[in-house]
Amino acid sequence: MPDNLAQMRLDTDFVRAQFPAFQVPALEGKAFFENAGGSYTCRQVIDRLTRFYTERKVQPYAPYEASRLAGAEMDEARNRMAAILGVQSDELSFGPSTTQNAYVLAQAFAEMMTPGEAIVVTNQDHEANSGPWRRLAQRGIEIREWKIDPVTGHLTPDDLEVLLDERVRLVCFPHCSNVVGEVNPVTEITALAHAAGAFTCVDGVSYAPHGFVDVGDLGPDIYLFSAYKTYGPHQGVMVVRRTLAELLPNQGHSFNAGTLYKRFTPAGPDHAQVAACAGMADYIDALYAHHIGAGDGPADRGRAVHDLMRAHEEELLAPLLEAVAGRNSVRLIGPAEAALRAPTVALALDRSGEAVAAELAAQGIMAGGGDFYAGRALSAMGVDDAKGVLRLSFTHYTTRDEIDHLIAALDRVL
Ligand SMILES: Cc1ncc(COP(=O)(O)O)c(C=O)c1O
Repeated sequence: MPDNLAQMRLDTDFVRAQFPAFQVPALEGKAFFENAGGSYTCRQVIDRLTRFYTERKVQPYAPYEASRLAGAEMDEARNRMAAILGVQSDELSFGPSTTQNAYVLAQAFAEMMTPGEAIVVTNQDHEANSGPWRRLAQRGIEIREWKIDPVTGHLTPDDLEVLLDERVRLVCFPHCSNVVGEVNPVTEITALAHAAGAFTCVDGVSYAPHGFVDVGDLGPDIYLFSAYKTYGPHQGVMVVRRTLAELLPNQGHSFNAGTLYKRFTPAGPDHAQVAACAGMADYIDALYAHHIGAGDGPADRGRAVHDLMRAHEEELLAPLLEAVAGRNSVRLIGPAEAALRAPTVALALDRSGEAVAAELAAQGIMAGGGDFYAGRALSAMGVDDAKGVLRLSFTHYTTRDEIDHLIAALDRVL
């Protein structure tokens, strides 16, 4: 990693040139602030998807050339994404979505566990990493809830410790909630779980768009995210570390049980979209080459690009937080300090979040309102279900001008 990374700035002109959405008339003048719902797609991914659909749309892994290339591109996607995430290739797999990946994993845990054993879930998570686990109560698994602070939305590791004992096999929690926005200390939480003999399942969906992490270093047993929020196609990306992946019963075809990356993806793979996931690695490499040059392995390149993205996002997040935190009619959900959170900013207002999003749309701001499938967290914080929140979420391709546009629109609307 270069020594002067901390002084480097992200070149947003270069970044935006990688996204066709910023060049099309249909989206001109509209500032996009619903990135936590799904990001724009980078051209590297679109190019690979187009090439696959036009040149390789055949059953992959056969000996003829189009098929060989199709299979090779699918393998490339898995190999390169695994390398960026600091794990082995066969520890990574692609499924239709994070919700479905978590569902399949829950079935596997249900087969492995015995009634009376326990799983810890949070009330901070999106439903995807909560509902499938809670449902195992019907099969005799005890579900223990790690609760957020009702005022701040914060998850305190000390509160988890009280819930842990020898019966707990798994702790599920988010790297960052899609409404609270606070970044949770994954390594610390995983260490607590491991000390009690439990595995961890981390929902990285709201964190990964702000930079890929070295999952190997971070330490969880499972790390999930959704590629359609990380500039890629509509796929769920799932890392299951080897020890756990070998222990959990196979959920795929019986003859695939010996192939680690096929064990938790019973659906047939979406060949084109899996192949297009290599475009996310191309994009990281393009950012790295433009800002830093050559050198470093994939995980270090991922880390350097993560740090560049994060620095840019923090710089833009500070004025937005300042603009909303001081308003009487606004309750900011989660921390008011940019360094502690992702740029996913939920606001509870005196009227419905969706109604305010509609008013913002008229001002050229694309944002959303509702509960974003994180109703448990919002209810625990006393947010009125009927109103939900307004959510403003951005990523590294957002500019200071767009933040100013948003703040001016909020001034008019709130
Ligand atoms: C934090 C979080 N987790 C999980 C999901 C579910 O992901 P998917 O749509 O891939 O099932 C979402 C989707 O919005 C999310 O925001």
